[in-house]
Amino acid sequence: MGIIEIENLSFTYEHGTRPALDGISLSVEQGDFLGVIGESGAGKSTLGHCINGIIPHHYKGDYYGSVKVKGEDTFELQLTDISKFIGTVGQDVDSSMVAAVVEDEMLYGLENFNVPREEIEERINRALEDVGISNLRERRIATLSGGQKQKVALAAILALRPEIVLLDEPTAELDPVSSRQIFELLEALNAEGITVIIIEQKVMLLTEFAKHLLVLDHGNIALSGTASEVLQQVEKMREIGINCPRVAHLSAILNERHVGNGKVVATVPEAESYVREVLA
Ligand SMILES: Nc1ncnc2c1ncn2[C@@H]1O[C@H](COP(=O)(O)OP(=O)(O)O)[C@@H](O)[C@H]1O
Ligand SMILES: [Mg+2]
Repeated sequence: MGIIEIENLSFTYEHGTRPALDGISLSVEQGDFLGVIGESGAGKSTLGHCINGIIPHHYKGDYYGSVKVKGEDTFELQLTDISKFIGTVGQDVDSSMVAAVVEDEMLYGLENFNVPREEIEERINRALEDVGISNLRERRIATLSGGQKQKVALAAILALRPEIVLLDEPTAELDPVSSRQIFELLEALNAEGITVIIIEQKVMLLTEFAKHLLVLDHGNIALSGTASEVLQQVEKMREIGINCPRVAHLSAILNERHVGNGKVVATVPEAESYVREVLA
């Protein structure tokens, strides 16, 4: 059984006119690195809210089906209990900050989780270092850029050492170099066994780092599978309005015509070795 099991989940917000999620079933295995993509309004954030319990505990609406985290229905769990397993960096980082200074923001969570005093310092240091923002420790949050705030939110979550990290467009305000650093950090965490679920617009990075991809379209699962299975569905991706990396597209077409080697590549260097291999 997956660490997250979703069965036939539908949700319509209290004042919504149509279901934001419309009969979704999904199983996420422990240790997965799942990328969620889809156009704006597809239901990505809503799916995230259903996984971390914000729905049904905070947002009201019509809810059908079930979401289980580690075998327990989110309806039966308290939000604080779910947050012990799942660390979330939401789409709206600004509204989630509770403290005025970076260090206090991190302390807040650690104290709430009753982390022993003697561990706190080490955890703060480590998380700030991992995210590459040790220099921001004493800064006032109000003076930070959007990208810096995203990194603070991520560090605050990582300090809590959750089993699952759920991130909703965590690189939206980051430049390409920082975005890649975040993905590399997530990859390292994932290698240690942490389950990563990331909602992300940067398909190129997802293609490279995610093990599985889920494509949402109007509250439905349009595609799901390994990253390469999904990227081979070039036509369908285009219909849904998702831009695949051009090299992924190219390799998928070659595979479709049975002149490729079956792999889908995400980066130009990979494409180069792909072509060399196919020609050889
Ligand atoms: N709080 C809300 N109340 C009513 N409708 C909402 C609310 N939040 C999102 N929606 C609607 O639910 C649908 C899915 O939204 P969302 O999950 O935010 O999509 P995405 O994250 O993929 O952009 C959209 O039609 C959106 O307008
Ligand atoms: Mg969203």
